[in-house]
Amino acid sequence: MSVKIVPSVLPADFAYLGRDCQALEEAGVDRIQWDVMDGKFVPNLTFGADTIAACRKVCDVGFEAHLMVERPEELLHTYVDAGCELIIVHPESLQQPHRTYAHIRELGVRAGVALSPGTSLASVEHVMDLLDMILVMTVNPGFGGQSYIATMEPKVAAARAMIDASGFDIELEVDGGIGPETIAGPAAAGADVFISGSALWRYPSFAEGVADLRQRAEAAQQG
Ligand code: DX5
Repeated sequence: MSVKIVPSVLPADFAYLGRDCQALEEAGVDRIQWDVMDGKFVPNLTFGADTIAACRKVCDVGFEAHLMVERPEELLHTYVDAGCELIIVHPESLQQPHRTYAHIRELGVRAGVALSPGTSLASVEHVMDLLDMILVMTVNPGFGGQSYIATMEPKVAAARAMIDASGFDIELEVDGGIGPETIAGPAAAGADVFISGSALWRYPSFAEGVADLRQRAEAAQQG
């Protein structure tokens, strides 16, 4: 399995978002995650497609949009137009999940699903053919800097088994409280993409953080 290190830009200095995206790209991140929150689906409000589009102009690294909003079905195209190559939605927010996953692909980008800690893996069991990525949240969505929920590791392992059994090429991502002290658990359980926000910003440099997190995850995958 490979290891992808993907920063959440929630800890960034919003006055210099573009500069931070460029610095993350230079530090060797695999893509950048945009946590889009509408103050309804989650009790926090972050940024929208216009902010992402502005940063798209100043770097080439891939963007993923993690949509923590109500009725994301109505907004999908705006994040594709903003330059995101992967759109992640929560089944908890969808009227017709199967139709939405298929529509994301029809828009020419990859489809990801994010499962909050209280949402069962069974909710995606029969739509694996429509997915390019499964995100097991290791915090409840809505804020950066929360504590990692280690009891999600069996869910990561079950997702890994479900993906391997499906035969589809689906990434397994974890998000929330991922840092040097916690990344080994989900890596050993089968994750291959790791979102890190506040922990990455605590390293002396992004390059040191990305290298250290990648090395720890690879070591844990090899067991
Ligand atoms: C939470 C977001 C996460 C969060 C990660 O709802 O989806 O991406 O920003 O930040 P840390 O790594 O600080 O938990």
